[in-house]
Amino acid sequence: VRLLLQLTAPPTPAAPLALRIDGAEVEVADDGSSLLDVLRDLGHTSVKDGCAPQGQCGCCTVWVDGAPRVACVTPARRVAGRTVTTVEGLDPELAQRWAAAFCDAGASQCGFCTPGIVMRLAGLVQRRPDADDDDVDRALAAHLCRCTGWWSMHDAVAAARDEREPRAGRDLAAAARRAELEGGGPQFVSPAVALGRGGFAEDTAPADALVAVPDGRGGWAIADSLRAARAAAGKVQGRNSTVPLRHPLAVPPGDWALTLRTTFVEPAYLEPDASWCEPGGEPASPLANGGAFGGKLGSAVGEVARRLADEHGRAVRVVLAREDVVRMGPKRPPIAAGIGLDGTGVVRVARTPGSGDLGAWSAALALAAPGLRVEVVDVAGLPVSAALRAAGWAEGAVLVAAAGLLASGPPAAGRPATVTTSAGARATATVADDGSLAVAVDAGQVLDEVVLRSYVLGAAHQGLGWVRSEGVAVDESGAVLDLTIRSFGIIPARAMPPVAIVVDKDGTGPAVAVSDAVFAAVATAAWVAGGLGPSWPTDRGGTT
Ligand code: FES
Ligand code: FES
Repeated sequence: VRLLLQLTAPPTPAAPLALRIDGAEVEVADDGSSLLDVLRDLGHTSVKDGCAPQGQCGCCTVWVDGAPRVACVTPARRVAGRTVTTVEGLDPELAQRWAAAFCDAGASQCGFCTPGIVMRLAGLVQRRPDADDDDVDRALAAHLCRCTGWWSMHDAVAAARDEREPRAGRDLAAAARRAELEGGGPQFVSPAVALGRGGFAEDTAPADALVAVPDGRGGWAIADSLRAARAAAGKVQGRNSTVPLRHPLAVPPGDWALTLRTTFVEPAYLEPDASWCEPGGEPASPLANGGAFGGKLGSAVGEVARRLADEHGRAVRVVLAREDVVRMGPKRPPIAAGIGLDGTGVVRVARTPGSGDLGAWSAALALAAPGLRVEVVDVAGLPVSAALRAAGWAEGAVLVAAAGLLASGPPAAGRPATVTTSAGARATATVADDGSLAVAVDAGQVLDEVVLRSYVLGAAHQGLGWVRSEGVAVDESGAVLDLTIRSFGIIPARAMPPVAIVVDKDGTGPAVAVSDAVFAAVATAAWVAGGLGPSWPTDRGGTT
């Protein structure tokens, strides 16, 4: 009889979990949620979701009993009875010190990655006040930042540790103008950005909004919470692959002095696309605090939020997971090019289904390389876009600059590469024998040197990654195989060489964006220093 009773009795609901979060005692349902879900549902929006549940970007890092922990792979159940601290719960003086240090060092641009990084680094310095650059790099190994190029974070650590006074007299409005110019999207610059208050759409949606996520079949799964919507979508989490990167195009026939083949490259902005909309309202922009390197210009999330809000008569929040961004977001199109020493040649560019005609890509290339003829070739693959950072223009600039260098001597480290934009911004980059980088820029009126340097460093990081390590694997049918944020080849902190930046402060002309010139100049210098190999990324074995 007792057995029968046991079998038929309704399941006893699990006792709620008790946690202490930022000094407050809270109880939450023991329903299998991650600590990240719990924190964000309770309104702790400083804790960001850059890749959940992959546990690879570090954006969700908080302290559990004072030690940094990645919240998206921590079951809430496991931290029951313990003390959780987000950046919002740090001692205010300590939080302000770190926020000011990041702002003063230019160590936060979009600010999506930095709340987690601040928690990591503040924890490090508390434990090890004498932490050196290696310790900082080791701590940063758990994080990814796409914007800043890492080194400014070392400066921020020094400023916070030494309790330096915040920089006085800085014009943050001028700083924001420089950031907008370089980033190509609305942006503000303030200490608050480093603490996660960049105004991201995923953080500003009404708490009672419905949540919609891609269902994997071209539609949208909708529920009352993000967790429920993702459960309704029923997707199985993807992984990265060990499949080699593919170069889908062959070099055009010809007797070329220099050839290059590239693969699909993920823009890899850290903040996944998100928007929300009230019925009859205007959708929140997914470009909250930065341009996402052009990767969100064609994002559908705003229009989907508008349509679903109108259909349901309620506010709807639309959120992509990292894996959705990889599957749906645009990639830099692969090319295969041949160029002569006189700068004439042919560039093939890959067009994939649904990617438009790439006319803007060809026009941008022609600005930098009028001697190159474009052939658009249809291939299977991920959506590509001409809107990504300097797409077309940078390919042309690199090919012309590299051919010019080759005309005057063999490829080697130490050879400076100069690239100038049509607006007159100029960047000269050199990769030394020891791998360190030097970048000199003239961007007209500086506006704010901290932000300008930050964007130069970030563009150098991305230019180096483009040549050496970045790419996304696809199979023969064009389906993406690399789905995790660590698989895109973003250069981590410990692998980023030192960068010496010289800013021409005599520029009296109008302020012009220089980071695309830096991106192309660094890519050229790195390619030349590496011997002008026939395909990128140069340092990722097993490519085909
Ligand atoms: S969201 Fe947790 S590590 Fe990326
Ligand atoms: S500031 Fe790090 S990803 Fe934007």
